[in-house]
Amino acid sequence: MEKILFINSCYNEEKSRTIYLANKLFEKFDIDSKFDFEEIKLKDLHLLPLSEEKLKVRFDLANKKLFDMEMLTYSKKILSADVVVIAAPFYDFSYPSILKLFIENVSMPNLMYTYTKDGFEGFARGRKFIYITTRGSELPDSEDFGYLNLDRMFKLFGFKESQLISFGGTDFYEDPKNKIDELVKTIKNPF
Ligand SMILES: Cc1cc2nc3c(=O)[nH]c(=O)nc-3n(C[C@H](O)[C@H](O)[C@H](O)COP(=O)(O)O)c2cc1C
Repeated sequence: MEKILFINSCYNEEKSRTIYLANKLFEKFDIDSKFDFEEIKLKDLHLLPLSEEKLKVRFDLANKKLFDMEMLTYSKKILSADVVVIAAPFYDFSYPSILKLFIENVSMPNLMYTYTKDGFEGFARGRKFIYITTRGSELPDSEDFGYLNLDRMFKLFGFKESQLISFGGTDFYEDPKNKIDELVKTIKNPF
């Protein structure tokens, strides 16, 4: 059975429209019975930014190719997933800082990727990265610099394909969940 790693980057479990969209897609395509599914809730990880000390350790470990560290648990989960799904709200033309902290912490050189003379080589075996987001306004996908960033990061890690699923206008519609339901009906299986 293939594995989906779901990286939940939303703060508000009950009210999040982004989680609502993600859950509707998981239900529609019966993810529970078709995949081995694991969720990481970023708000529970209490991640901290890199620091001078942490950078030293990181470069030292990367050079020695020593990756037996607790902080790299999540890097290894990404390396072994077939599909990674991230759900994150649209913040300031990008995504929330907890997700940036997560990427910063997992993106370990020589474990996730290496640079080559032709560019780079990623070590993940995943076939697809899927990004699910909702935006307050109806900005087009081309304005989503968060997705652009993550698309490049997951390609760097070795993922072969990526897809963005977005809903715009949550802060305009009185009942955005009805509109999200309508959108979900039109979406073909991304998994
Ligand atoms: C800190 C913050 C920054 C935001 N920045 C933008 C923005 O730049 N453009 C936009 O259209 N909406 C912006 N929004 C609105 C959110 O994208 C919108 O409400 C989204 O649907 C929230 O998702 P959620 O319900 O899953 O939390 C912002 C909201 C917050 C709280």
